[in-house]
Amino acid sequence: MNIGALNLKQIPKHVACIMDGNGRWATRRNLPRIDGHAAGEDALLDTVYGALDIGISWLTVYAFSTENWKRPVDEVKFLMNFNEGILTRHRDELNEKKVRIRFAGRSDWRVPKRLQKHIDDSSELTKNNKKLTLTIAFNYGGRAEIVDAVKQIVDSKISSNKINDKLISKYLYYPDMPDPDLMIRTSGEFRISNFLLWELAYTELVFMDVLWPDFRRDHLYEAISLFQKRSRRFGNIGES
Ligand code: IPE
Ligand code: IPE
Ligand code: MG
Repeated sequence: MNIGALNLKQIPKHVACIMDGNGRWATRRNLPRIDGHAAGEDALLDTVYGALDIGISWLTVYAFSTENWKRPVDEVKFLMNFNEGILTRHRDELNEKKVRIRFAGRSDWRVPKRLQKHIDDSSELTKNNKKLTLTIAFNYGGRAEIVDAVKQIVDSKISSNKINDKLISKYLYYPDMPDPDLMIRTSGEFRISNFLLWELAYTELVFMDVLWPDFRRDHLYEAISLFQKRSRRFGNIGES
């Protein structure tokens, strides 16, 4: 699928992506799983540039879940260094392209201090950029996000009759982030795996067989063309 097949007037404002299948990509090539994560770097960059080219203004990618700590310690360690490497290798070019980098997730003593510093520095460096907000969900869990919101609401002593959808959204990690219009999961798995549980309520879901390291902007455009054929009703009866 190339860009020409898309209706450029109906580009989703916010695309979210579960970058899955790195381990299987490597295993199929008799490589260690970490080589699959490393190969995902080109996929991520091509997706970001592909998103910029068609005017997507919010892109959220799932890089490490609150459950991924269960993985072998060497793989977790690799992922921490790898995410630091992605920031140091690409933040200047992303900044030049007016990408605002943000991180969504829990701060955690297990996140190495050096990575945390790069996270903070990259967010600070790019905070005024307006073209695309790239949110990296890192040590992110949808349930953790809701739990953290509930804690803050209780600590603020807000009375129960003031609690509604809008108020809860205000206590999520980024209240200014619109809900995703489209969520893509690669690798052929049909599940959400604790990604953006609150925000995905009315998101269109596209599941693709491609493994993340093989994903390129054309896959993004293919998912968007499927999105453009969907009829979003939000509980209403839709147009006749
Ligand atoms: C996704 O790929 C990357 C992370 C979860 C960090 P996986 O590592 O889950 O790859 P598979 O699903 O095992 O193939
Ligand atoms: C979801 O993938 C997390 C990321 C892509 C970062 P997982 O591979 O961890 O999900 P499960 O274990 O297959 O549900
Ligand atoms: Mg996986």
